[in-house]
Amino acid sequence: MLLKRNDLREALKNKLSPNELLLMPRSFDIIGSRQKAIAIIEIPDPLKPHEKIIAKALMQIHKNITSVLRKHSKRNGIYRLRQYELIFGDDDTEILHKEYNCYFKLDPQKVYFSSREGTDRLKIAAQVMPGEVILVMFSGIGPLPILIAKKQPNVKRIYAIELNPIAHHYCLENVRINKLAEKIVPIQGDVREVCPKLDLKFDRILMPLPKGAHEFLDVAIKCARNEGIIHFYHWALESDLYSEAEESVLKIATKLGRTIDIQSMVRVLPFAPRKWKVRLDVKIH
Ligand SMILES: C[S@@+](CC[C@H](N)C(=O)[O-])C[C@H]1O[C@@H](n2cnc3c(N)ncnc32)[C@H](O)[C@@H]1O
Repeated sequence: MLLKRNDLREALKNKLSPNELLLMPRSFDIIGSRQKAIAIIEIPDPLKPHEKIIAKALMQIHKNITSVLRKHSKRNGIYRLRQYELIFGDDDTEILHKEYNCYFKLDPQKVYFSSREGTDRLKIAAQVMPGEVILVMFSGIGPLPILIAKKQPNVKRIYAIELNPIAHHYCLENVRINKLAEKIVPIQGDVREVCPKLDLKFDRILMPLPKGAHEFLDVAIKCARNEGIIHFYHWALESDLYSEAEESVLKIATKLGRTIDIQSMVRVLPFAPRKWKVRLDVKIH
């Protein structure tokens, strides 16, 4: 859930100056449930002395917020984690987040999760046909496999591969909570090692790792059956959103003796000024 700046501005109007109010970021992420939620906010340096006041105002507007975390770094490292600073509330930041009738248990301090990507997840799930065998590389706590299995109950099997052992642990737990153990097979490990050992050909392969998925295109293409679909994510400049992604897929496919047919090219979300996370949906022949 995104809380709009105006709600918070209203609550803070007697506590911060008009200039300080203008510095408030446009939106805040709130993840969790009615019982327990976490607000994740970006506080610009000039507002840092007021961070506790801001956190308390957030907790007053949303009574279910038990912790307020300030973004302290960009996402980094192989697990794509962000450093956070607890500015107010409980230091236990494990929550149960609900999205389109799916439940995701997670601790944002230990695993990657973005509630903003829910709409993109839904668009992918809507494309899945009955009987498909699917590979979700870089599966994290399992939001994509779980949403797909809920929206397409006749999917045959979904393999979910994740390197971060804590994210894998949450994926196992989330598969259990959502009662999908017959459909989803979570595996902990590096996709480069795990995928060839599966010795399967997939109808659909998801590559939700915009920073680096291109390094695993060879693994994905080798696992794609004839006419299988690869959903390839990439970071791109607004001035040229799709060329680099398209060239990467074409180059590796050609090397492997396969041909491609780009089905769609999508702007998923902005991640920095004039930079986007994009998705190419590619049929592999
Ligand atoms: C951008 S996150 C996406 C997670 C999940 N799909 C989601 O949407 O919430 C990428 C994930 O890939 C995992 N990862 C990075 N390199 C990997 C590799 N070589 N093999 C398997 N997982 C990897 C990271 O730990 C991280 O959880």
